[in-house]
Amino acid sequence: MQTMAIIGAQWGDEGKGKITDLLAEKSDLVVRYQGGHNAGHTIWVDGKKTVLHVIPSGVLHPHCTSVIGHGVVLEPENFLFELNRIKNVTKVTPDNLKVSETATVITSYHKLLDAARESQGTEKIGTTCKGIGPAYEDKIARRAVKVKDLFDKDILTRRLAVGYSEKAMLFKNLYQVEFPSIEEEVERLYKFGQSMEDYVCDTFSLIDNSLSRGKRVLYEGAQGILLDVDYGTYPYVTSSSTSASGIYNGAGIPNHKLEEVIGVAKAYTTRVGEGPFPTELFDEIGNTIQVKGNEIGATTGRKRRCGWLDIPLLRYAIKCSQLTSIALTKLDILSDLSELKICYAYEVDGKKVDCAYPGINLYNAKPLFKSFKPFKDDFTGKNSAELDQYMSFIQETLGIPVSIYAYGPDRNQIVFKKNLF
Ligand code: IMP
Repeated sequence: MQTMAIIGAQWGDEGKGKITDLLAEKSDLVVRYQGGHNAGHTIWVDGKKTVLHVIPSGVLHPHCTSVIGHGVVLEPENFLFELNRIKNVTKVTPDNLKVSETATVITSYHKLLDAARESQGTEKIGTTCKGIGPAYEDKIARRAVKVKDLFDKDILTRRLAVGYSEKAMLFKNLYQVEFPSIEEEVERLYKFGQSMEDYVCDTFSLIDNSLSRGKRVLYEGAQGILLDVDYGTYPYVTSSSTSASGIYNGAGIPNHKLEEVIGVAKAYTTRVGEGPFPTELFDEIGNTIQVKGNEIGATTGRKRRCGWLDIPLLRYAIKCSQLTSIALTKLDILSDLSELKICYAYEVDGKKVDCAYPGINLYNAKPLFKSFKPFKDDFTGKNSAELDQYMSFIQETLGIPVSIYAYGPDRNQIVFKKNLF
């Protein structure tokens, strides 16, 4: 196997980082293809925690080249901050970290716009306020700054000037917030560009050459399929293609196709921000899962909403991204609960529905639950019959195998049931 993808199969925060980190050990390249520093990938090694936002989770393996593809939106100040922080943990050099020269730059204007819309706009999405949406808007509108533009003040000035007057009008007249002049922003970004330059290259040709030399490439998704701008629960989504299709747009897989697409799902469901959530729990069990699972956003510090595992949503995720197997994480959080349930279908307008197709209004979907005998495993020995039953049900109803399961955050708390890479 030469190509593999790790994709969030729910609303993000599924524990993709730790799976990517482990598989990176056997990879030559780990490639991010969408999103930006809105992601928060937490990796524990020997009890030490590392949180990555835009740098790929392969970075903890110095033999592996971490690639930030052209579909990523990159905030240079945050990138450099993260880079300096990670250099205290592992060896990172321009040889093993590469940034696409055509990745889109998140500017101060994007961050200000995101925050102003969230605090003053009529429809709150609950964004991370990192400027992700506004940066992608500028990319699609063909007025974005690309990473390669950071190295020339004249080009940078010209690129920032496109759309500046519209933004200035909004800041002055609508949102009434202070904003930097073009000159100030040019100076700020140019300085960061100088510090980044050695890491920047044509990542598409790097991936192409690596694949033709038989190297193993692992694509690392951020967020989750249900936050995909096209497949997700719009408008409560992020602004990128978080599903497998984003790999083709945001990094490329020249002359190859994906051989394994692992959908990472928690053994229950969580979501941050606004939007529908059919299996959300508002009772003591939901509270227990939130506290026990430490369900607090790694990027924003917000409490995550918690609910039972939702099979119709996972069935939809499998169809959206052609998932070939599931990695089930955080099983330990469900151990020793007083009750245990899985939503196997919804009732919508009196009819039973087993896949969360986009035509279904999820606010009207009544979850139908199957109850399981709770398991009390500490995962030190053989799995209990109850735990096996819980996992078998998931595998059978989804029709794809559970290839990996995790019962804790550390590298040695992850079990591979299939030989991957
Ligand atoms: P944005 O990506 O900051 O524009 O936020 C849009 C939506 O995606 C909000 O509901 C965020 O909470 C959610 N979101 C963005 N990144 C993540 C993530 O890494 N994990 C979970 N939710 C996220």
